[in-house]
Amino acid sequence: MTKKTLPRAASLPFEVDATRDHPLGMPAERFLRDYWHKRPLLIRNAFPGFETPVQPEDLAGLACEDGVLARMISLDRATGAWDVRTGPFQEEDFPGLPDHDWTLLVQDVDKWDADVRALLEQFRFLPRWRVDDIMISFAATGGSVGAHVDHYDVFLLQAQGERRWAIDARVAMGQPAPDLGFLEDVAIKLLRTFQPTHEWVLSPGDMLYLPPLVPHHGVAENPCLTFSVGMRAPSSAELIGDYLDTLIAEADEAVRYHDEDLTVPQDPNEIDARAMARAVEALNALRMNDPDLVGDWFGRFITTYRASGDVMPPPDAPSRIEMEWDLQRGAHLLRHPFSRFAWRRRSKGATLFCNGVDYVLPVREAQQLAGLESLDGATYGALSEDARDAVMGLAAQGHYQLAFGDDDPDTGDEEA
Ligand code: SIN
Ligand code: CO
Repeated sequence: MTKKTLPRAASLPFEVDATRDHPLGMPAERFLRDYWHKRPLLIRNAFPGFETPVQPEDLAGLACEDGVLARMISLDRATGAWDVRTGPFQEEDFPGLPDHDWTLLVQDVDKWDADVRALLEQFRFLPRWRVDDIMISFAATGGSVGAHVDHYDVFLLQAQGERRWAIDARVAMGQPAPDLGFLEDVAIKLLRTFQPTHEWVLSPGDMLYLPPLVPHHGVAENPCLTFSVGMRAPSSAELIGDYLDTLIAEADEAVRYHDEDLTVPQDPNEIDARAMARAVEALNALRMNDPDLVGDWFGRFITTYRASGDVMPPPDAPSRIEMEWDLQRGAHLLRHPFSRFAWRRRSKGATLFCNGVDYVLPVREAQQLAGLESLDGATYGALSEDARDAVMGLAAQGHYQLAFGDDDPDTGDEEA
């Protein structure tokens, strides 16, 4: 009897142990090749000895702030009814809560907390602009958001307490895809049916990676914190809609459908083949394939896509002269946490992008500015004039703020 060999992917494990050299349990290249966007993976001890930088009380405090995206999801087991409330919440909302079956979820905690943001360093094997945010949930025992799918990749890092995750990995096992239909008349999008193939209890430091559309359900075994590092994946409708807006804005009114080769039609009501060829030609004139046009549009688009917080200059922002004076005297420029930077090479030089604005700069400086969270006076002073103009242009929009000594942006009033 001949031994049947499994296709390579089907023999890959769904659970691995991280090592000191390989926090993903394997080299990042192998993770991207075999798992990323393809197969779920539980990584035991991805963050060994992990201690949460945010306590449940901190999360509750954040959920009471204006401008913070927070939700509370609870289940009444007696009736099976789900309830969803959106923040900002009041401090008084928390003490009266039961000790079971509710979850508080706060989006974008990486923007509000520098220690949480620092965790993103562990995800440098992914393009930074693909990362959306770190959402943190606190769940009382039994708390869950139900069985669902997400449309983007997510890393679920257990930060405190234990959570039981059940997933349906049938697609990755080469089996028919599950039904992804939703229950009707429920406050959240929950799967109508959920048949888990794998179940694990995660402890602090364990991390579950899920590609898009893998059904999953996480239930708190005890009061627990879970950090979700979520990715952004614009749909084709979002991409084409935004790109068309750019094309329309930049379109030359003088470039039109034209038919100087027109001959007398057989039937004046017919749109004939030659008319269609001219229509296609008029569309082609939209320069859809110009790499710099498409590249610059994509950079602007992706640095604004799903941006949740507004970046504004502080009301008493100092002038450029004042900022440059302070930079020479020990101040530094700190990037706004909601500012998204990226860069790309152009046919000549590079473009630096930040929240939908772009600056053409030398490659070295575009790369440097995209990578630095803070600029001191020496770094600023060594930049070319174009790069300094870009920094000051971004500072005028609030993307950089002057800071003195510590890391808190400051308008300068308290300078020592
Ligand atoms: C949670 O943290 O409770 C939900 C995260 C998820 O399922 O995506
Ligand atoms: Co999810």
